[in-house]
Amino acid sequence: MALAKIVYASMTGNTEEIADIVASKLQELGHDVEIDECTSVEASDFEDADMAIVATYTYGDGDLPDEIVDFYEDLQDLDLSGKIYGVVGSGDTFYDYFCKSVDEFEEQFALTGARKGADSVKVDLAAEEEDIENLELFAKKMSEAVEAI
Ligand SMILES: Cc1cc2nc3c(=O)[nH]c(=O)nc-3n(C[C@H](O)[C@H](O)[C@H](O)COP(=O)(O)O)c2cc1C
Repeated sequence: MALAKIVYASMTGNTEEIADIVASKLQELGHDVEIDECTSVEASDFEDADMAIVATYTYGDGDLPDEIVDFYEDLQDLDLSGKIYGVVGSGDTFYDYFCKSVDEFEEQFALTGARKGADSVKVDLAAEEEDIENLELFAKKMSEAVEAI
């Protein structure tokens, strides 16, 4: 059994729901899960996890949500070698930079020495049936990656 820490930013609830879907699946797969809003934790809390997961929406013109910027900046200074990371998020295909914050976090995690456990999942607004399947598959791949360590 591994410990997954999920940190999310969510203004209107879509990303929080996405984080909850991933959390439920990981619990079903037998893992311990801690899920926190990004302003209530420090990036260094990931040092205690086996799986480090960020769920974020995108704001402005392809910008990170203001409330997750500190967390994002602190992430690059961490050594998360030996851990598995993954990123999910919500955006809106109406905008030019769909779910750009998801890509930004992927790049930031890559600087920490952690290994990607599953491809990111980008959801258009609220998660629908197909998105839920993709999010559960994401959780399954994360689980397999952590068990292979
Ligand atoms: C002012 C504003 C700017 C936004 N800019 C983007 C954007 O650049 N790219 C994108 O993919 N989504 C953008 N969105 C859409 C949000 O990311 C989307 O509504 C998301 O589901 C919000 O997640 P939440 O419910 O967790 O807050 C924007 C939304 C607002 C209100």
